[in-house]
Amino acid sequence: MLTQRLQAALGRAFGEEYAETDPLIRPSHYADHQANVAMSLAKRLGRPPRDVAGAIVEHLDIDDVCEPVEVSGPGFLNLRLRDSWLDSEVAGLAGDERLGVPVEERQVVPIDYSAPNVAKEMHVGHLRTTVVGDALARTLEHLGHDVIRQNHVGDWGTPFGMLIEHLVDVGEDSAEAQQLVTDPNTFYAAARAEFDSDPAFADRARSRVVRLQAGDPDTLRHWNELVDLSKQYFNRIYSTLGVTLTDADLAGESTYNDELAGICDELEATGIATVSDGALCVFLDGYTGREGKPVPLIIRKSDGGYGYGTTDLATIRHRVRDLGADRILYVIGVTQSLHLNMVWDTARKAGWLSDDVEVVHVQIGNVLGEDRKLLRTRSGAPLKLMSLLDDAVAKARSVVDEARPDLPDDVRAEIAPQVGIGAVKYADLSVAHDSEYVFDLDRMVSLTGDTGPYLQYAAARVRSILRSAGDATAGSVVISEPAEHQLALALLGFGDVVVEVGRDLEPHRLCGYLFELAQAFSSFYETCPVLKADDATRSSRLTLCRVTLDVLVTGLGLLGISSPERM
Ligand code: ARG
Repeated sequence: MLTQRLQAALGRAFGEEYAETDPLIRPSHYADHQANVAMSLAKRLGRPPRDVAGAIVEHLDIDDVCEPVEVSGPGFLNLRLRDSWLDSEVAGLAGDERLGVPVEERQVVPIDYSAPNVAKEMHVGHLRTTVVGDALARTLEHLGHDVIRQNHVGDWGTPFGMLIEHLVDVGEDSAEAQQLVTDPNTFYAAARAEFDSDPAFADRARSRVVRLQAGDPDTLRHWNELVDLSKQYFNRIYSTLGVTLTDADLAGESTYNDELAGICDELEATGIATVSDGALCVFLDGYTGREGKPVPLIIRKSDGGYGYGTTDLATIRHRVRDLGADRILYVIGVTQSLHLNMVWDTARKAGWLSDDVEVVHVQIGNVLGEDRKLLRTRSGAPLKLMSLLDDAVAKARSVVDEARPDLPDDVRAEIAPQVGIGAVKYADLSVAHDSEYVFDLDRMVSLTGDTGPYLQYAAARVRSILRSAGDATAGSVVISEPAEHQLALALLGFGDVVVEVGRDLEPHRLCGYLFELAQAFSSFYETCPVLKADDATRSSRLTLCRVTLDVLVTGLGLLGISSPERM
């Protein structure tokens, strides 16, 4: 809106060729916004920036939207929105079920996220890709895109020989096998220990791998049993977390088994892959290791086995060719960046990935313990994700008990998981996804500061105001107080932020926005009485409350965080 008006003025002042210049509008403390375009155009026009600014103001037709525009400093244009304009904009928002979020031109967007490994514990890295990936899936879906969730679980490979043999030994219905559902690492470790200590077992495990790869029905049945038990484990975590992944989204490594030989043949026939030391490799320009030695993408090992790179080649081909992807997101740890780039470059060479498909690595940074090393338990053992989530819920319970002793026990019991899980998710989402952060449960569940519970609490507070008001909420908006002005401004920013998150794939911007909105609401509520105001003001302020609640709940929803009725 401001952009269009400014561009029109640029066109009128300096000629049509300037009508598409970015006016460089930024939020500002001095006004609501500042446009910095005069400084950037000064050189091009060969005129002093303040002159340029003056010329823009002269041609600006914006009186209905802004107070008279002032030029400050070296040529900033200070834009302060008129309350009367905000009145009608907020009223528009109140009547808009999308709250200003546009529906974008539909793209097909497969999102690769979560991707834990069968018969292994999910770690905090998996937690973070799950939470970030889910927030992106929800946001892009909300923007109108056709999101295809792809849970690329690790469900194939040599360890399955020993895992199957161990399963056969203990029996599928044994308590040990059931550990796969609750504590997969214990099962894995037991299989591993046998493999390392018992040569006969190790032999059986190796021949089991051969039978697995040959598709022996009995072996496949056992393999399926392992995968099923693991699915139960993943699904317990997913439902505790409230993420949208279901069994229908599983697209594990094994899905591509039948394509791997063909992929290798094709790459070899076209000369893209060559045999080196018995392994089939792709050497690509620009990938060199120490002393400039070329680093290959190995697609068939010298023993004939396929690896992680081969399945990922089949995966990208599938996403482009069969799913019809326009944009593919890989929400995966930063350390896998080299691997992904080699896979994509190979796919480009092979003609499976063209320039009109955008591929993005949404890099996931490490989660650290207080010692700033990878998060582990006190004893140094890898962390169990489920017990970490249980801890979060228990901590949230004591926070809720303390804050709201007046609420009935069962209500507090219902709120605690929403707060505890919301806290963990918000902590994951509110820092840039590619940076590290220190996992600190006490800080996460706090009701103050930039936390999930603070935002949930803000939403619950608005709900309580609306409950006290009864249903007298519809009314026209009349803004006069500075705190109302700031709140209106914040509310009107929602649509842009959601679009940005969809474009730049950075959920932390939505977190930052919601935090600012909650603060703007807090200042508003401190300085502007709602329920005790006279009729017209009361109904205007109730509308502001209503829209604030809708934006908070919708925004938290896009992050995958629920908003308790009471808190
Ligand atoms: N299972 C892998 C891991 O635990 C992640 C897979 C990511 N997705 C992919 N297409 N490579 O590290």
